[in-house]
Amino acid sequence: MPVTIKTPEEIEKMRVAGRLAADVLIMIEEHVRPGVSTDELDRICHDYIVNVQQAIPAPLNYRGFPKSICTSVNHQVCHGIPGEKILRNGDIVNIDITVIKDGFHGDTSKMFPVGTVKPAAERVSRIARECMMIGIDMVKPGVQLGDIGFAIQNHAEAQHCSIVREYCGHGIGREFHEDPQVLHYGKPGTGLTLQEGMCFTIEPMVNIGKRQVKLLPDGWTVVTKDHSLSAQWEHTILVTADGHEILTTRPGDEP
Ligand code: MF3
Ligand code: CO
Ligand code: CO
Repeated sequence: MPVTIKTPEEIEKMRVAGRLAADVLIMIEEHVRPGVSTDELDRICHDYIVNVQQAIPAPLNYRGFPKSICTSVNHQVCHGIPGEKILRNGDIVNIDITVIKDGFHGDTSKMFPVGTVKPAAERVSRIARECMMIGIDMVKPGVQLGDIGFAIQNHAEAQHCSIVREYCGHGIGREFHEDPQVLHYGKPGTGLTLQEGMCFTIEPMVNIGKRQVKLLPDGWTVVTKDHSLSAQWEHTILVTADGHEILTTRPGDEP
């Protein structure tokens, strides 16, 4: 599939979808507390997306995914399925929200500390966010995706963390996952050259230990092989004439 260039009308719809996805992360924050189950977080988000936003939770039934959000706790890397698991003091959890509004997708995730967390958990969450922001800051026409992947990988590895290679960012629009693939590692001067009107996500997964991952028998949940902590942050980005716009930004999310 070719990389789609969004028209001004499509960009306006991407802005709306992005804002709604960001709003869900803002809404859910107060509910992420010791004692809550990931199923309860899924239910609250589902009801908000469907009833308040009158939008569609994109994960639900996507390739058979059974829930409306992804919740990935501690050594879970991504695509965790909400369930009876109770969050405990000291856990870290990524909540990944994708909504469809008026035919367009907005996709964003962030780490939440549950109660008070240890320095290592705080550190991997912070480094993953830094990796995402380093990538986002580079986005403008003419830059190549390999330049961005290289910068993200460098930052993680300089902090003695590792970048997961099996999952990546992606073009986004009418489809949840469009071309291009946005790798969070790579070589400068390689890959797609960015153009105004492209939309894609940057969503690095950073492990405090080794980069290797495995898929659990549920067919979705990805965990670190060495059970080390993992963190991920995600924004949906638009390439503009002179730089970029973060479509899923939240107040207070600035660097
Ligand atoms: N939101 C994830 C991403 O960032 C994809 C989740 S697919 C699901 O690309 F089926 F697990 F929801
Ligand atoms: Co995504
Ligand atoms: Co996502």
